[in-house]
Amino acid sequence: MGLFRVIPKLLHNRVVMAGAAPRHQQVPRNALNSRDRTGSGSGGLRFTVVLSKFEENLTKASSPTRFPHAMETAKQNVVEVARRMHQKHGKAMEDADGNPTVQSLPPTAIVELIEGFKVSKALFTACKMKVFDVLRDEGPLSAADVARKIDASEGGTGQLLDVCAALGLLEKTEGGYSNTPLATLYLLSDGEYSLHSLIMTQEEVAWPFFSYLEFAVREGTVQGRRALGTAGEDHYQESFYHNREKKLQFMRAMHGHTKVAARQVSTAFDLSGFTSACDLGGSTGALAYELARKYPGLKVTVFDLPEVIEDAVCFQPDGPQTGQVSFVPGDFFRDTLPEADLYILGKVLHNWPDDKVHQLLSRISRSCKPGGGLLVVEMLLDEDKCRPLPAVLMSLNMTVLFQARARSLSEYRSLLQAHGFTDVRAVRTGTILDAVLATRA
Ligand SMILES: C[S@@+](CC[C@H](N)C(=O)[O-])C[C@H]1O[C@@H](n2cnc3c(N)ncnc32)[C@H](O)[C@@H]1O
Repeated sequence: MGLFRVIPKLLHNRVVMAGAAPRHQQVPRNALNSRDRTGSGSGGLRFTVVLSKFEENLTKASSPTRFPHAMETAKQNVVEVARRMHQKHGKAMEDADGNPTVQSLPPTAIVELIEGFKVSKALFTACKMKVFDVLRDEGPLSAADVARKIDASEGGTGQLLDVCAALGLLEKTEGGYSNTPLATLYLLSDGEYSLHSLIMTQEEVAWPFFSYLEFAVREGTVQGRRALGTAGEDHYQESFYHNREKKLQFMRAMHGHTKVAARQVSTAFDLSGFTSACDLGGSTGALAYELARKYPGLKVTVFDLPEVIEDAVCFQPDGPQTGQVSFVPGDFFRDTLPEADLYILGKVLHNWPDDKVHQLLSRISRSCKPGGGLLVVEMLLDEDKCRPLPAVLMSLNMTVLFQARARSLSEYRSLLQAHGFTDVRAVRTGTILDAVLATRA
C-alpha cells in the first residue's frame, strides 16, 4: 500500500532495487497492477528494475544470531544500490579499461565552459543597452515595453531578458521583468556600487584583446595593435586614456571595483597607528575616502597621473572625510613621491612586469621611513597559481593587456623583502580584493 504514495514520485525516474530474490521483482509489479486496478493508471511510469547481483547467500549459520545476518544483507544491498545509482540502464560506469564513460562523467561541465563567453556577452549587451536602468525606472515591464524603451527588436529583447532571468539578474513574472537585488546593487549605471563601467571596459577593451588570446599566448606580446589598432607603446594611454570619455569610464570602472571591497580592505589591518598615507595610483580616491572615514586621524594623499587627477573631483563623496583627502598629480616612476608613513599600492603592481615592480618598490622604499608601512591591495593567487579562479583570470587579463600578471603572497613577499620591507602579512578579505601589509625595516 505504501508504494501507492511513492509511485507518483517515481514518475520518469529510474528505480534501482536491490535483491535478486523473486519476491523483490514482484513488489513493483504488484504495485503497478494494483495501481492499474484502482483506475489511477500508470501512464508515464517507467519502472526499470535493476536487480542487485549481490547473492544473498550468507548462511544463517555464519552468524550466531539472525540480527547480524539481516544487518549484513541490508548493508550489502545498500552498497550495491549506491553503486548502481550512477549507472544508466544497467550499463557499467567505466569501460573495459576502467576509463570513465559519458554516463559516469557527463559533458555538462564542458558545455558550461563552451557557453561561458555567451554569458559574459549577454551581460555586457544588457548593460550597454541599459536594460537594468530601464527596469529600475519603470519595471516590471514586458519584453515589448523594454524593447521599445531600448529601441530594439521585441524578439531579440525577449531572448536577452530571458537569459538575464536565467542568470539571476532579472525576475520574470506574469507582470513582466524586474531587476533582482543583485542587478539593482551592481548593474545600474549610476548605483553607489555600480560595476556598470567595469563591465563596459570589459566589453570595449578586454573583449577585443581576448579575441587575440592565441596570438598573445604564441607570441608572448600585448595585442594592442591587433585588438585596438594602436601603436602598442603606452598601453595605459592607448587603452584607457586616449579620450576623456574613455578615461572617465575607466576611472568609474576602478572606482566601482574598489568601492565594493574598500570597507573590508580598510579594516583588514589596524592602520590607526599611521597618521599620513599616500595612495600611489589611487585614481578617484575610492580607497582613500574609505580609509579617511575609518581612521579620522589619517590624512591621505592620492597620487596619480595628471590626466586622472584633473577629473578626480567628479568622484568626491559628501561627508567630513573629504577634508582628509588631497590629490597630487605625478608619475610614480619619475616624480618625487609625497611623504607619508603608509604607502598604498591598490591594483597597481599587477599592471607591471617584475622589472617595473622592482623600480617602483625601490622608489617607495627610499621614500618610506623605517617603521613606515606599505599596503598592497590585490587579488592574491594561491601558491599553486590555479586558484581562486577570478584571480587566475585577472592574471591572464593582465598578461594579454599589459604583459603583466597577478602574484601569490610568497611572490609579493620576496619582491617586498628585496626592497627592505619585512613582516609581510596578508589578509584574504573574502571579497574581490585582498590586502598585504609590510613594514619598512
Ligand atoms: C588599475 S588602476 C587602480 C586604481 C586604484 N588604485 C584602484 O585600486 O582602484 C591603476 C592606476 O595607476 C595609475 N598609474 C598608472 N601609471 C602611473 C604612473 N606612472 N604614475 C602614477 N600613476 C599611474 C593609473 O592612472 C590608474 O589610476
